[in-house]
Amino acid sequence: MTQTYTNDQNAGARYARELKERLAQRTGTRAEEWFPVFKARYGMREVFDAVTTVHGRGNVVTQLFTCSTAIDPITSARLTPRYAEIDADTVSVDPSAARKLASPDLRAVVMQHTFGIIDSAQASRLRTLCDATNALLMEDSAHCVARLARDDEGRPLADVSIHSFGIEKMTPTHFGGAVWVNPKMRDTKLRERILRALSDLDVIGARLKFVTRIYFTQNRILAHLPSSVSRPLRHFFVQHGLMEPAIVPLEQKGGLPYASLQPSEWINHEAVKGLAGLDSSMTARRNAVALYLSELAGVTDAGKLSIPSAVTASDPLLRFPLFVRDEATAQRVLAEVRKAGWFAEPWYRPALFPGSLDDAANGIDEAAKTPVSTRLIAGAVALPTDLDTAATKKICQIVIRSL
Ligand SMILES: Cc1ncc(COP(=O)(O)O)c(C=O)c1O
Repeated sequence: MTQTYTNDQNAGARYARELKERLAQRTGTRAEEWFPVFKARYGMREVFDAVTTVHGRGNVVTQLFTCSTAIDPITSARLTPRYAEIDADTVSVDPSAARKLASPDLRAVVMQHTFGIIDSAQASRLRTLCDATNALLMEDSAHCVARLARDDEGRPLADVSIHSFGIEKMTPTHFGGAVWVNPKMRDTKLRERILRALSDLDVIGARLKFVTRIYFTQNRILAHLPSSVSRPLRHFFVQHGLMEPAIVPLEQKGGLPYASLQPSEWINHEAVKGLAGLDSSMTARRNAVALYLSELAGVTDAGKLSIPSAVTASDPLLRFPLFVRDEATAQRVLAEVRKAGWFAEPWYRPALFPGSLDDAANGIDEAAKTPVSTRLIAGAVALPTDLDTAATKKICQIVIRSL
């Protein structure tokens, strides 16, 4: 197993190869079907660019309950996001709502496994829709790296699957992503184009190599400084290209700051290390999810909060999602959990988290603000799942008290 990074110029893309092999092993696919990228968003953009090149401009069905960086790849490939209603049971595009948005201009549907919830039945329905409309089915597994939606026989359903090693994802890696391209994709012309694009990416340059390597230490130091010092310092670093932030304002306006790039060998090495620790982290997360479900059952039954019904005690979720009756309650629950020292988050409030700075560029109109999406966005609370039993139980008590 790779532990220490060695910068051996003669070893070629050793860690990229190792990463592809590990991803293939974990998913029962083949190494040559995987393509490492600097961040998942750039892998998505390359795929959508290929769609525009092969089939022309058109629409991509996606969801409002997501991160801005999941929409930028659509808009920066000159496609138009169309926001479908989501299913409250899965927090993912409702296939019936997606069908209503189908038209000759439909180019792709994004199947997002929000928080890592994978619903095979729903995925199969989206597959059927894409087959009927000749649209590409993109799976967004950013929250559940190395997991894929499958049919009854275990075959992956998506045409392409997007995975992230980015900040606040399943592995403690901060950067990197990977795209899987299904060898059975029906649209062979598009597949060829995607494969060519992903194979031709340049590796990140010297500045990004440097800032990605110092990010962890830099972030830790900033976290230990008083915010009156850390905030301007962080701003200074970002302004001068000395720190790579999770998101920049341009990305809240539908743009992406870089050309699509491959990760450095060091990032690939970190991703390989991250995958080596994934099983134990998934076990811990499953335990936390099971505990949240049992501890919160009483308040769920009393109708004070809802938990997506597709969540089961064996799901290794990135965050545990719960939805309370309104935004004020959600903010109160978050504030109480944070006051006690845990990192609960308002994922995804506001819509296109951390918020759209240009609704027109992001394709947000009144029709996008569908009732279930709006309700879930207002009441969203995302709780940490990487904690032990005692901490998870304490969080449950705080949640119950704050309702
Ligand atoms: C649902 C979803 N998709 C895609 C992405 C983009 O991943 P990356 O940060 O690796 O570009 C994110 C990032 O937060 C995300 O939450």
